[in-house]
Amino acid sequence: MGAMEVIIQSDLRQASLLGARIIARHVQGKPDAVLGFATGKTPLLLYQFLVQMHREQGLDFGRITAFNLDEYIGLDPSHPASFHSYMWKNLFGHIAIPDERVNIPNGMAPDIPAACREFEETIKSSGGIDIQILGIGRDGHIGFNEPSSSLTSRTRIKTLTAETRKDHGEDFGGEENVPLHVITMGLGTIMESRTCLLLALGKAKARPIAQTIEGPITAMVPASILQLHQRAIVLLDEEAASELKKTDYYRWVYDHKPNWQKY
Ligand code: PGA
Repeated sequence: MGAMEVIIQSDLRQASLLGARIIARHVQGKPDAVLGFATGKTPLLLYQFLVQMHREQGLDFGRITAFNLDEYIGLDPSHPASFHSYMWKNLFGHIAIPDERVNIPNGMAPDIPAACREFEETIKSSGGIDIQILGIGRDGHIGFNEPSSSLTSRTRIKTLTAETRKDHGEDFGGEENVPLHVITMGLGTIMESRTCLLLALGKAKARPIAQTIEGPITAMVPASILQLHQRAIVLLDEEAASELKKTDYYRWVYDHKPNWQKY
């Protein structure tokens, strides 16, 4: 593959199941794979499928290394809205992954730039991320790389946009309680993952998805940098695909994948 692979599934269940199968296949092929995880509503069902595959088919996560894209600054990891809490509650707590194999940015670090550098070093010394799961914000962000992020950025502090704080207000009992700052992997960091798996579900993602896939590469739509990735899979439900122009072609390509390329 040398292009974005756009896969349109009938609904969120099918898209999430296919996403889980793609992750499972990586783990089966490389039991010590380095996996990059995302938070938010989008990957919840995908994670449920992974938990189910672990329980029912013995999919073994005991030797993987996990990295997460981002975390709020100044929020205790035990806070229910932290991404630490999210990951243990929705995935890590159910797949027998050893604590020490989990890497989530430390938003409580006294020296944030040092923590960011250390996070980058840990990714490197783990051999790099094999597959990075991504969601997309309504403003086109991936990780918390908001519009105007440098397209070559590394893990660093970012200030959230008002829109993103609003989108996360529910988790904090009001948008005024959402932290202003986060640590996020940069776009350059994400681009070094061997495979990127962007999952987008629902009508609210239709516009940023059309901009990402069929618009220009621009820092104003940070996800559009994925057009330069050698292996980016964009997995969509019908609603998220509804503003794309070339859907007939994407379906045609997917339906005619050679057997050896099928998931
Ligand atoms: P969501 O968030 O999955 O909750 O829509 C995605 C994102 O903001 O990256």
